[in-house]
Amino acid sequence: MRITIRNLQEMKERGEKIAMLTAYDHPTARMVDEGGVPIILVGDSVGNNVLGYGTTVPVTMDDMVHHLRAVLRGAKKAHIVCDMPFMSYQADTSEAVRNAGQLLKEGAQSVKIEGGRGLVPTISRMVEAGIPVMGHIGLMPQSVNQTSGYRVQGRDEESAQDVIEDALALQEAGVYSLLLETIPAELAQTVTERVSVPTIGIGAGVHCDGQVLVFHDVFGINAGRKRKHVRKYASVGDTIIDATRRYVADVQSGSFPGDEESFSADGRS
Ligand code: KIV
Repeated sequence: MRITIRNLQEMKERGEKIAMLTAYDHPTARMVDEGGVPIILVGDSVGNNVLGYGTTVPVTMDDMVHHLRAVLRGAKKAHIVCDMPFMSYQADTSEAVRNAGQLLKEGAQSVKIEGGRGLVPTISRMVEAGIPVMGHIGLMPQSVNQTSGYRVQGRDEESAQDVIEDALALQEAGVYSLLLETIPAELAQTVTERVSVPTIGIGAGVHCDGQVLVFHDVFGINAGRKRKHVRKYASVGDTIIDATRRYVADVQSGSFPGDEESFSADGRS
């Protein structure tokens, strides 16, 4: 049985921190599940991290379904929350409910959507339909064209108040959890104390009920600048590049394959 939204609520109530990671495919989902994360996010960051897009904006429902299926086949214990991609829930509430329902029919246990108070009717309809929703406020990557980049949100009093009001409105609408992205730690602490559902932070300080990071950041697969909120736990990308160079050299020198990697006609090896 996978971890449920009730289990996650109980973790908050016990003061047990929740560690969440993204995964986008079968082997990585299997590994992070075995590593013990209670939640896996099939993030629309699949766009930046796997599909080679510059942002999450081009990601489609078909992309999400494709990667969700692979993750579900790989992870057996973790709760699976699937991102709803840009324009799958913003334009029309009925379409939003249908799209969220499709992700649940595929096997996701919950969906995540980005947005504040404006999403209250959509979230209420989803929850009424039996679809658990994780809200996502603060920095919202799907709005990058509106915000002209990825900046810390809620630094001044007015925007901090906005984040708090969004959190309270989303809780009232029925979200089971709130993801807080790139907001000051003090603000995330206030939100976490004022809501009863678990908060999951990314770039939101230590006071959230849980943390989420992107798989490719954690394991050093992304090229480029390390972002401030990331802690890198391994350099898998460098290991792969190094191993590739050694493989190429072995093929070129003729040292691969050796006898141990070859088959003989007499069946002895
Ligand atoms: O898609 C994603 O990776 C996210 C992050 C904020 C964790 O939503």
